[in-house]
Amino acid sequence: MDTSSYKPGLEGVIAGISAVSMVDAEKNELLYRGYDIHDLVKHCSMDEVAYLLLYGELPERAALEAFNQRIRTDREVPPALYELFRTMPNNAHPMDRLKAAVALLAMFLPEDESNLRKAERLYAKLPTLVCASWRISQGQEPIAPDSSLDHNASFFHLLTGTPRTDYLAHVFNVTQILYAEHGFNASTFAARVTVSTLSDLYSGVVSAIGTLKGPLHGGANEAAMEMLQEIGSPESAQQWVRDALVQKKKIMGFGHREYKHGDERAKIVKGYAKELAERTGNTLWWEISELVEAEMLAAKKLHPNLDFPVASVYYLMELPIPVYTPIFVLSRTTGWSAHIIEQLENNRIIRPGHLYNGLEKRSLAPR
Ligand code: ACO
Repeated sequence: MDTSSYKPGLEGVIAGISAVSMVDAEKNELLYRGYDIHDLVKHCSMDEVAYLLLYGELPERAALEAFNQRIRTDREVPPALYELFRTMPNNAHPMDRLKAAVALLAMFLPEDESNLRKAERLYAKLPTLVCASWRISQGQEPIAPDSSLDHNASFFHLLTGTPRTDYLAHVFNVTQILYAEHGFNASTFAARVTVSTLSDLYSGVVSAIGTLKGPLHGGANEAAMEMLQEIGSPESAQQWVRDALVQKKKIMGFGHREYKHGDERAKIVKGYAKELAERTGNTLWWEISELVEAEMLAAKKLHPNLDFPVASVYYLMELPIPVYTPIFVLSRTTGWSAHIIEQLENNRIIRPGHLYNGLEKRSLAPR
């Protein structure tokens, strides 16, 4: 068998052409529709970046107002969704609850709308689903959406009952923008594969949610925080990492298929992790994180990816760990949708080949 054309994990394989984002691993650069993420996190709200990813340009004032109006008045979800959450096992993972909820939600939404409109509906309704799901699983009542709030303030309102527009909301905005899009990552590719069969946008997003759940992808933000908790103290950090590497364990929140010299997104969030630690006076996670990072660089030449600093940032925001990956979904749905729309504009079914290593042809005797 000639395996020379096979690339495990499709590493280095060009699987499509896209104008949504550019990942330049050599220059450590990430552009959304041509804009550098450094500029986007400095000057834009998540709502503006959602518009940018979906429509290709940053909105002028009137377009942004109209977009906000559509999003903010579309946050309600059908009551059947709340019933669904009440019938689910409370200990089911929030990503599993969300996957089922989006599949059900899709059946209540108009089928004959444009994909852009469907994408807007998901961006509007996902925070309501994520927060209601979590609250119901914790024995709390869901909170009705407030159409006067932006994406970030609304998220805190839906989760806790209190909107935020302070420094924490700003940091949340930064993480949402950085989670929104990232080329042909596994969940985006899954979404593109799904709609390449001419299945619908919602099915593409359900596939993507299932794909994002895994700890090698979006699930790493939760796994990274659980790891920091397991390490527990700065004194244990170096030895913990050494032992884990001897056991060939993956250290969650480190390494990346594309970035070999560091992930700019992680560097941006790391600044906030430090500032939050100082502002809250809780420097434990920062201290452990610094030691884990130094050990990973020394032992494996591996840098943190976005999920590593996000973990301690969300922890200091007092967000529940099982909701970290669903929070990733809230903004990545815009990147997924942009890719789904792009895929369908120039579609060919995605159907790669494989090499066969099973049994030789054999005869079947009458039975
Ligand atoms: N911990 C320990 N070793 C690692 C790690 C890690 N986190 N990441 C890579 N390595 C090692 C591998 O063991 C391998 O070493 P070897 O050559 O000695 O066998 C080498 O680095 C190459 O790693 P691969 O797993 O082949 O890299 P790949 O590109 O296939 O995987 C991935 C990338 C999945 C991100 C990997 O680095 C990983 O598992 N990281 C931990 C999970 C994680 O943080 N995922 C989040 C990704 S970013 C995101 O979704 C926002």
